[in-house]
Amino acid sequence: MKTAIIYVSHHGTTERVANMLKEMAREETDVIDLKKARNLDLNSYDKIIVGGSIHAGKVQSKLQKFCKQNETILTSKPLGLFLSCMEENEKANAQFEMAFPQTLRSHAISSKLTGGEILFERMNFLEKFMMKKIAKTSESVHKIKEDQIKALAVDMGLFN
Ligand SMILES: Cc1cc2nc3c(=O)[nH]c(=O)nc-3n(C[C@H](O)[C@H](O)[C@H](O)COP(=O)(O)O)c2cc1C
Repeated sequence: MKTAIIYVSHHGTTERVANMLKEMAREETDVIDLKKARNLDLNSYDKIIVGGSIHAGKVQSKLQKFCKQNETILTSKPLGLFLSCMEENEKANAQFEMAFPQTLRSHAISSKLTGGEILFERMNFLEKFMMKKIAKTSESVHKIKEDQIKALAVDMGLFN
């Protein structure tokens, strides 16, 4: 069995989660950065995991486009979805619903909110300014949810 872990990441958190999934897996996995991917052949994978992140209430448009364009193949295979964000509970759930189309959400065998990070060292001036106002901190925050990442790996059978 071969699994594709496809992600879009702005400051590296979603990329880190994708690599954590790969490290946990006992079967073959490819970690694919959608920003760099060329001629991606989804047919060559048995299972697919897709992840992105939220910035100013929105998921990356590249991820939305990918999900729309590949809806048929993504709904023909075991599918896992994950999202990096700092919000919790209802707000996080609402962001998840907005990030992935309903067809994919209802088909997915696993959907996880994997937490997020505030990485000031990777932000530009405007992002730092916004984040200081919103999060009321100028210190980096690390809230990656390892338990949710593990649960996603279990649901997707990556330990088999
Ligand atoms: C400018 C900016 C805006 C953000 N806006 C939101 C937001 O609206 N909701 C949220 O839950 N998290 C928000 N976050 C937190 C990100 O989702 C978090 O930093 C995540 O780990 C980013 O993952 P990435 O580095 O893979 O893109 C924001 C972060 C930044 C830097």
